[in-house]
Amino acid sequence: MTATAFSKAGVGKGVGRCRAIPIRFSRMTDYKRHSRRKTTFDYYEGMSEPLAYLNGRYLPFSQAAIPVTDGGFVQGVTVAEQLRTFGGKLFRLEQHLGRLARSLAIVGIELGMPVEKLGEIARELAERNHALFGPGDDLGLSMFVTPGPYSTFSGGAATGPTIGLHTYPLPFQLWKEKYERGESLVVTDVMQVPATCWPTELKCRSRMHYYLADQQARQREAGARALMLEERGFVTEASTANILVYYRDVGLVSPPKEMILPGVSAAVVEELAKSLGIPFSFRPLTVDDVAAAEEALLCSTSPCIWPVTRLNGRPIGDGKPGEIARSLLTAWNKLVGLDIAAQADRFAARG
Ligand SMILES: Cc1ncc(COP(=O)(O)O)c(C=O)c1O
Repeated sequence: MTATAFSKAGVGKGVGRCRAIPIRFSRMTDYKRHSRRKTTFDYYEGMSEPLAYLNGRYLPFSQAAIPVTDGGFVQGVTVAEQLRTFGGKLFRLEQHLGRLARSLAIVGIELGMPVEKLGEIARELAERNHALFGPGDDLGLSMFVTPGPYSTFSGGAATGPTIGLHTYPLPFQLWKEKYERGESLVVTDVMQVPATCWPTELKCRSRMHYYLADQQARQREAGARALMLEERGFVTEASTANILVYYRDVGLVSPPKEMILPGVSAAVVEELAKSLGIPFSFRPLTVDDVAAAEEALLCSTSPCIWPVTRLNGRPIGDGKPGEIARSLLTAWNKLVGLDIAAQADRFAARG
């Protein structure tokens, strides 16, 4: 973690003066890794730099660094969750914590503290760091857990997990135009990792296949994103988003839960669809099924929900964002009390 993202975005610059009054909280933590020493929570009241949390300490974001010998970096074993705020409040925190707990259980990493404790830390970071933002803006929050030092490179001693949380300005410029223009998807040769390697419900940062798939999608069509299939040829998801399709006579359809990451946003869409009287079901989808849909949508934590207007270079439906995408976004706006697309438009320029 470095301060680069924050510095680039100008967040924290000139926002509040750094009075550098050290406040020291000392608490004993109940978890293994940190029981070796008293955990200190050092930070500075009025500081303009966001806070991060790493292994029992709150610290300025620029000082949150992980050794190059950490298993998260060396082996790519990192369990993670990305959240966002609306009006400064973390959205669906409990659901993200629940999924994190399931991912940790799959990988066999003992957190050494209740997962709710991470929720408290997340709330604290979001509250403090959101205060550095301009009115109407929101932040993203990343939480990750690794098995800790990779034994071959670090003397073999098992010392417990690496636990980190940090926030970042939501990069609205990456998706602000998608609400109106829609997304282009390209089905790639690079496939989803089979569930025989790891369960699809594991949310982790082993993302080489997503990286390669998106690269291939962009080579085939500028600006496109990958849509990945599983071994039998059924549609799974995009690199960081769930896909849903809409047919007038069927309603919204998602690939079956066992083929995809159980998205927090997809669950929100299911709720919103119910409230709007739109049927919602799960069934295996082929590429032809997606191509034949009246509408297709992507959903994920930061942008929420946005239309897909092209697949493999051809329009889906009439090639324009449809009514279902629009009404779901409007319902989501109501749920969170702000205009999601307008916020993205307004804050995209801060970079
Ligand atoms: C592979 C994959 N599918 C779906 C999603 C959407 O999940 P959520 O709505 O919980 O952000 C993500 C989010 O990062 C993802 O990585």
